[in-house]
Amino acid sequence: MWGNLSSRGSVCAHSIIENSPRVSTPFKQELCYGFRIPMPSIEAFNLSKQYGAFCALSDLNLKIEGAKCVGFLGPNGSGKTTTLKMFTDLIRPTKGQALINGINVHTEKKKALASVGTLIETPEIYASLTPREALSMISEIRGISAVERMKQIETVVAEVHMEEWIDKRVGKFSKGMKQRICIASALLGNPSIILLDEPTTGLDPRGMSEVRDIIKSLKGKNRLIFMSSHILSEVSDVCDEVAMIDHGKLIVYDTLSNVTARFSGGNNVVEVGLARPVDNEILNQTIAAFPSVVKAEKTDDKNLKIIFKGGLDVQELLLSEIVKLNIGVVSFKASSSELEDVYLKLISATL
Ligand SMILES: Nc1ncnc2c1ncn2[C@@H]1O[C@H](COP(=O)(O)OP(=O)(O)OP(=O)(O)O)[C@@H](O)[C@H]1O
Ligand SMILES: [Mg+2]
Repeated sequence: MWGNLSSRGSVCAHSIIENSPRVSTPFKQELCYGFRIPMPSIEAFNLSKQYGAFCALSDLNLKIEGAKCVGFLGPNGSGKTTTLKMFTDLIRPTKGQALINGINVHTEKKKALASVGTLIETPEIYASLTPREALSMISEIRGISAVERMKQIETVVAEVHMEEWIDKRVGKFSKGMKQRICIASALLGNPSIILLDEPTTGLDPRGMSEVRDIIKSLKGKNRLIFMSSHILSEVSDVCDEVAMIDHGKLIVYDTLSNVTARFSGGNNVVEVGLARPVDNEILNQTIAAFPSVVKAEKTDDKNLKIIFKGGLDVQELLLSEIVKLNIGVVSFKASSSELEDVYLKLISATL
């Protein structure tokens, strides 16, 4: 059937397949282009770290595959940095393996880390250097050729929206700007896997929001982003999936909506932002009456909180129905307070 499509027809078919949330990415690639681009993956297999008698990480089994952003959530001291350091061979596992694209990080470090960009323990950039100079030094150390270097530096600086600052001295930058340059350095070599350890820690609210926006914009390009955080609202804002850890043990790994649905009696919450105040009649008689909706209420004039039964498929349907009401929907996001309830329940269960 595909062979008979006109070129215009096949473009349309491609865009239908590419935009369909129901077709998985590998199948999209196979249907559209006749081949599959390998999916980036990270895998912990019985990964454990012992410091003397203290167990910092205990038998972590976790496989994350595909282009997405996964939050690694856990309270202070739960083992997040320990895990990320083993994924970059900064420390050795006491037991088990850390695999990047199926390659053991510890036994085949160079090969495994060739496709990885990291930001663990933010490095200080010399105040007297410009981003171009600093990134040039880093790319030289990483073995990127001189010709390729200049092109790549401009690309990664553009990815963190710092083009205007590329030749200004880093000493004048805010913490958030420095962090963006550090993220740019992790992007050198166009890695398919990006590991970030609490990338917004130590930043003021503006810096945090700038860095979160950058991380969101890094999605796509067949990249897997794995970032640790102990900020729930950050994970629910930036990530597609969440792996929760406490006391060195994995508690759960799933999509954000499945995690909240699973641990809150099948209910999920979404917040809908509107451009103008919503009419009470539409809220109470139309939105609240949708079959999946348990409760719909205003949090203020232009924001709705909708509790519904179901996962992502129900959320997708609900959003499209609400958009059809023409009430000026401008944003739609999973509620972080629900995730917070789940998180607190899960953490207290492991105490
Ligand atoms: N070199 C070390 N020697 C002894 N204990 C360590 C060492 N490094 C980490 N730990 C301990 O291992 C546990 C896990 O630490 P880790 O840094 O991985 O936690 P984390 O989840 O990253 O915490 P945070 O949110 O504070 O960054 C903590 O109790 C920590 O004190
Ligand atoms: Mg840490």
